[in-house]
Amino acid sequence: MLPSRRVLIAVGGGIAAYKICEVVSTLFKMGVEVRVVLTRSAQEFITLLTLATLSRHPAYTDENFWQPTHSRPLHIDLGEWADLIVIAPLTANTLAKLAYGMADNLLTNTVLASTCPVLLAPAMNTDMWEQQAVQRNWQQLLTDKRFHGMNTASGLLACDRVGAGRMAEPLEIIAYVQSLLHTAGKRDLLGKRVLISAGGTREHLDPVRFIGNPSTGKMGLALAQAALHRGASVTLVHTPASWDVPLGVQAIPVVSAEEMRTSMVQNLASADVIVMSAAVADVKPREYSNEKLAKKSLPQALPLEPVPDIVAELAQLKQPHQRLIGFAAQTGDIVTPALEKLQRKNLDAIVANPIDEPNSGFGSDNNQAIFLDKQGQKIEIPPCSKLQMAHHIFDLLGK
Ligand code: C5P
Repeated sequence: MLPSRRVLIAVGGGIAAYKICEVVSTLFKMGVEVRVVLTRSAQEFITLLTLATLSRHPAYTDENFWQPTHSRPLHIDLGEWADLIVIAPLTANTLAKLAYGMADNLLTNTVLASTCPVLLAPAMNTDMWEQQAVQRNWQQLLTDKRFHGMNTASGLLACDRVGAGRMAEPLEIIAYVQSLLHTAGKRDLLGKRVLISAGGTREHLDPVRFIGNPSTGKMGLALAQAALHRGASVTLVHTPASWDVPLGVQAIPVVSAEEMRTSMVQNLASADVIVMSAAVADVKPREYSNEKLAKKSLPQALPLEPVPDIVAELAQLKQPHQRLIGFAAQTGDIVTPALEKLQRKNLDAIVANPIDEPNSGFGSDNNQAIFLDKQGQKIEIPPCSKLQMAHHIFDLLGK
């Protein structure tokens, strides 16, 4: 499915280098061809043997760079070979060299000898990261659209400081790699604002009991990642989730349909694209108790009342330039009810996905769907990862 699949991982000398093993191993398992380059200082943190074993290919160092064992210069070969270069961890030193176009080792020479997108995952101590010189180099480098910069996280660092400078987690790097392999680095959502809802709403009866559904919000997460990686500013309104919100995405946590409605309506005006992938409850208990109800006080029958139809309300409020996309999780015939919802809720498009097929729907990392829009297009999105599906959806919206 991936149009290109050759990834060069360049490892810098920082303690976060140990996390790269997981990136290399996961990419290999996903069928990506991986080569690894280590700087001299990276080898102080992680061994060649580890990365060569995980990538099933010898890993390269500056020693290989200076040895005449290759018919062509190694940096030229690697630079031409790669569809994507990932530099992780990116150290202050390598960042400075890249910002100035310097080439004094295999890593920097390979970057200069290549034209593919480069994903950068910086990692350093907070004071180092916040130095004017480092921030200047970072901003300078990112003016070149070849370079895709990942945010650093805040948290406990290996120097026992708590602050900015933590490298993005392996799962986040892997998702970004998948995105860049899909888009070849295209930023077609640059300058766009994308508002996404994710997860299943919870309609509480009391502080511990609620009416809910099995949605985990993974499709909404994938949409947020895809939009972010394509250059958008992303707001993600999400219900309680087991995953981390991607760095750089504005997260608005909510619980009930009413809270989701408020946040979606508040954020509607500034959005260009709105994707309502949340599984919103249709009804809620009529009564809410602030105290936990004793078992014996639980009602025999639960009086219910409807919750607002958020996407239908957004459709009423939206401006003509805004695109509103809904989701329809269905069993059996997925097209007829989705078409009905597309029209009744006045959406620009709807993504109908089966929840009775193995390996798709609620909780799965994969999905399949039929994309229907108001122009009458009906496009099948065959089984793929939720991230790939998110990219297919943005590809279709861009057409
Ligand atoms: O639940 P249903 O199949 O009708 O969902 C179709 C679309 O409507 C989805 O995009 C869902 O997020 C949205 N929806 C909503 N408010 C509701 C119910 C559904 O926005 N109360």
